[in-house]
Formats: sequence, C-alpha cells, structure tokens
Amino acid sequence: MTPEITVVGSANLDLVVEVEYVPQVGETVLGGDLARIPGGKGANQAVAAARLGRQVAMVGRLGADSAGNILRAALEVHDIDTTSLLTTRDTPNGVAMIAVAADGDNSIVVSPGANGRVTAADIETAGALVRDARVVLLQLEIPVAAVEAAARAASGRVILNPAPAAELPSSLLEHVDILVPNQTELAILSGHDGPVDASVATELARRLPMEAVVVTLGAEGAMVVTPDDAVHVPAPKVTPVDTTGAGDSFCAALADGLVRSLSLVDAAAWAVQVGAVTTLRPGAQPSLPTPTEVMQLLS
Ligand code: RIB
Repeated sequence: MTPEITVVGSANLDLVVEVEYVPQVGETVLGGDLARIPGGKGANQAVAAARLGRQVAMVGRLGADSAGNILRAALEVHDIDTTSLLTTRDTPNGVAMIAVAADGDNSIVVSPGANGRVTAADIETAGALVRDARVVLLQLEIPVAAVEAAARAASGRVILNPAPAAELPSSLLEHVDILVPNQTELAILSGHDGPVDASVATELARRLPMEAVVVTLGAEGAMVVTPDDAVHVPAPKVTPVDTTGAGDSFCAALADGLVRSLSLVDAAAWAVQVGAVTTLRPGAQPSLPTPTEVMQLLS
C-alpha cells in the first residue's frame, strides 16, 4: 500500500540520563538511572505520524547489533512499513547519548552507526515508497547525498527538518517544499551570525524556490514564512518535563496536517500543539501523543 507519509532518516537507541543540569566542558555530574529508549529523528517522526493516525513507511538502515531488533519492533508495533529499513552487516546501530536537565532541556551526542551508511541507491531501491508518498519527511542524521536523492525522487510534498544543523547545497534545497528549522539551524542555513527573525526566513524563502519556511521557536510556537508573508503561531503554555522529540513530533504533525489538506498555517497550529504535548512526558518515542491525548492534555 502507498504510504501517506514516508520518512527517510535515522533510528537511534537513546541512552538517556536525567541530570540536575547539563554539565559544562570538563565537568562531571551524577545523574539518575540509565534508560534505553528507541529514538532517532527519523524514527521519532515516523512513530509520531503513525500515532496521529497516518499510514507511514520508514526508509533507512539499522545496524547488526541487538539494538536493531528493538528499533525495528518500535516501528512495527505502530504498523509502520519497514520493508525498506535495511540492515547493515558489521556496523553498530545509531546511538544517542542524551542528558535531560531538570528544566526539561537536553544535550545530545549522536553516534550515527548504520544511519551513516544510507545511500542514494537505497532510495532508488525504496522506489514507490518515496516516489508516491503524499509527504516525504527528511532530516539530517543520514548522509546528505541520500537526503538529496529522496528529495529528488519524491513526487509528493517534501519537508526537510535540517537537524542536526548543517550548511546545505542548493541542489538539495531546490527540491524541498517546506523547510522546518529551529532558530539555530536557520542561522546556519542563511549564513547569519546574529539572532534570526522572520526577515531572515523570508529572505531564505525568496532566495530558494520554496513554498515556505516554518521556523520552530520552542515555547514561543512557530513562524510560518512564505516569500510574501510571515504568520506567528503561538504555543500553548505548558511546563515541560523533557523536550526530547518535540521538534520531531512538530514535523510529523505538520505532515499529518498537510495530508489532511489543512492550510500550512493551520497545520503549523496543530503541530505546535502536538509539539507542546510531547514535552509533558519523558523520552522521545514514549511521549508521542495521539490526537485524543493532545486534546486531553491541553484542555
Ligand atoms: O530529536 C530527538 C532525537 O535526536 C533523539 O531521539 C536522538 O536519537 C537524536 O537523534
């Protein structure tokens, strides 16, 4: 069956420790018990979209160690098509080491492992899963060449969440319909040193043949920027427990809204709510809400 949303991206095993505060360079802090949780920006976005009711496929690579079974099962339990989630021999799985501070903020180091072995040929092998999906969701935890191949192959809308931040070739950006950076990522993409605002996003949206740039602003919500307009979408007030995965659920909810034919501003308003609710529970994938949970937790 053709998926509504295909995610081309990473799957990581998240090794999560709660700490009072994120340590400075050269500092050691004691934290809580280690939690091993399925994560990775790609897999989180796939699970988030499936939790919201969409038919989802995941394209990428797992490694050969035992974490691979955990990561695949975490997708399949949500009926996500994993036929193009390949296994790479003699390569470890992606791992993310995450410190979560008492205020819910985090610090993450990722070892890409098998995610770093995804190729443009893998995208070709995935065929219709990428070509025919209504929305293709991309991030930057796999090689840029594979991201670009997916953006080029897609006939549906292409959403790129440029995380972790990197400078990107225009040969990729010109195949992206909607870019979803946070402010740090926007600064890097636009080559700005100082604080970025709507005018920076507008300039980027005008420079590239892109439908829109949707800038995530954390507790302040998001900004939907087209070449002609900038609309601020405020976030509901919540007290975060763990912000891990909030950006991922935002991207998935944006894609969900577009599949349901919402306008981009309405889809962003929905995404801001889903992102906010994701911060109310610990861990990335365990915190991803259903539509009913979004309504209940924000009422
Ligand atoms: O966006 C959150 C994710 O970033 C985590 O699940 C971790 O795996 C890192 O990739």
